[in-house]
Amino acid sequence: MIRICAVEDVPKGTAISAAVDGTQLALVHGEDDQFYAVYDECSHAAVALSEGEIEGCTLECWLHGSRFDLRTGEPTGLPATEPVPVYPVEVRDGDIYVSLTPSNGVTR
Ligand code: FES
Repeated sequence: MIRICAVEDVPKGTAISAAVDGTQLALVHGEDDQFYAVYDECSHAAVALSEGEIEGCTLECWLHGSRFDLRTGEPTGLPATEPVPVYPVEVRDGDIYVSLTPSNGVTR
């Protein structure tokens, strides 16, 4: 697992974009108080999901409004139809770590 930042760097209900070993991630602090990491690009067009709106444990693409479930990577609505890669996140001693092996088996 690779350290990204400290827990306090990502306040609840916000997301940051982080490059980890050449992979751009959206690291999200969900409203359910969990941390999630997904590939930081919408599966519909090449825009950054980290700039979208967080609601509960979903992240909305700001361009056309597809909403992605941060636990599964699946879009809950059109126009996106493909899931985005989801990466395992761990919080240890106040720091956030991710693994670059997608937990939902989706590769980019
Ligand atoms: S670019 Fe994300 S829904 Fe179209």
